[in-house]
Amino acid sequence: MVTSEQFFGRYGLCAIVSLLIILFIPGLVRVRAAEAESSWPYANETKQQRDTRMKWWREARFGMFIHWGVYSVPAGTYKDKQIGGIGEWIMNRGKIPVAEYKKFAKQFNPVKYDPDAWVRLAKTAGMKYLVITAKHHDGFALFDSKVTDWDIVDATPYGKDLLKPLARACRKHGIKLGFYYSQSQDWCHPGGAASGGHWDPAQGGDMDEYLRTIAVPQVKEILTNYGDLAVLWWDTPFKHMTKERADMLQPLVKLQPDILTNNRLGGKYPGDFTTPEQRIPATGLDYDWETCMTINGTWGYKSYDHNWKSTEKLIKNLVDIASKGGNYLLNVGPTSLGEIPQPSIERLKEIGLWMKVNGEAIYATTASPFSKLTWGRCTKKVRDKTVTLYLHVFDWPKNGKLLVPGLRSQVLRASMLANRQLLQAVKHKTGVIINVPDKPLDQHVTVIKLELKGPLNVKQELPK
Ligand code: GLC
Repeated sequence: MVTSEQFFGRYGLCAIVSLLIILFIPGLVRVRAAEAESSWPYANETKQQRDTRMKWWREARFGMFIHWGVYSVPAGTYKDKQIGGIGEWIMNRGKIPVAEYKKFAKQFNPVKYDPDAWVRLAKTAGMKYLVITAKHHDGFALFDSKVTDWDIVDATPYGKDLLKPLARACRKHGIKLGFYYSQSQDWCHPGGAASGGHWDPAQGGDMDEYLRTIAVPQVKEILTNYGDLAVLWWDTPFKHMTKERADMLQPLVKLQPDILTNNRLGGKYPGDFTTPEQRIPATGLDYDWETCMTINGTWGYKSYDHNWKSTEKLIKNLVDIASKGGNYLLNVGPTSLGEIPQPSIERLKEIGLWMKVNGEAIYATTASPFSKLTWGRCTKKVRDKTVTLYLHVFDWPKNGKLLVPGLRSQVLRASMLANRQLLQAVKHKTGVIINVPDKPLDQHVTVIKLELKGPLNVKQELPK
């Protein structure tokens, strides 16, 4: 039998210690987060300043990701064996020794590279920005780097900076330019991190030294030699990118005062937007985000990956993302000759045809006010207090009646976006019913435009 005195004597101390831990840990976490944010160059930005910096990106909604490098030479096959996983990871997955891998650079000769055509393709697709891998995890630089020979100029027969003409083409065609830079993983420079650990003694070395001699000067190079940059896209910080290490890179961002950075630097830096990879969040998020995604199954070119998503799927993804307030960064993986694979070109052109007609329902829109629509998605635009809803119909109603559930606002005008045909909108006890033609106008997604009178008023029951 334990008396209450004994009980408290025995457990009281534990209870007090636990209580202290519970009370203090959140405080400690907050202090650490605040510390991380204090060296964040935009930590003291006002909401208005931030909104101004983010404006173009929030309106763009659609961008092109380009994964390009030496890995496009083996293109998924090493020593006659197909190496599983994504193409740009072939060196890591195949445990290819550094000296062996470097030999591929001798065959990296993208004589068909036409940056102007790439940028025009992005523009035709309706994309507003592009982000290219200036350096991926294999450490190979697509630009002329003064701190290494492991770059396009010194290690390949091509011998010319690939990013300069791309930057020029972007400026010419009004497409914003971003660079992806793998700051932590580097499988060819000594000291760079490697997922799963190093597999070649040549990779051994000190990571801080690697950061000082390679990553820091290279990030300076890409932030100063290519004109205005819109985005810096960090990747795979893992545990290696401690706060101290992230602090070696973070201040460099000031070299491009208006640049946006993602959340993958490490050291708890929040960045300007988060980066769901290969997936679309289930609901809207109340912060800026960008889904990056491949058109087939790989980022870097793999000769035998024919798992292409359909144009319809890609359009629906774009619509789904816009309806949740995010951006879509859609990837192409060019070959070692410098060609974007034909199936990607076809799909991007088809998306472009859709965007030409329906872009108004994507650009500068914000998230849907509806929690769920059984027939499709909705995007919203508010201009001078006038609210417009764009109804993206995935499943065309067989009975010719499209119910907008829970919409209580008065509809000023309902029309088909593609041909401006006016439609009748009828108030109903469960919302508004739009009388639509028998057939959709578009083979992929048909958009109906609803201009509302007065404020937006939606009373939708949340799905159980
Ligand atoms: C990953 C991969 C990488 C790819 C990136 C794109 O984190 O490591 O290869 O570049 O995702 O989001």
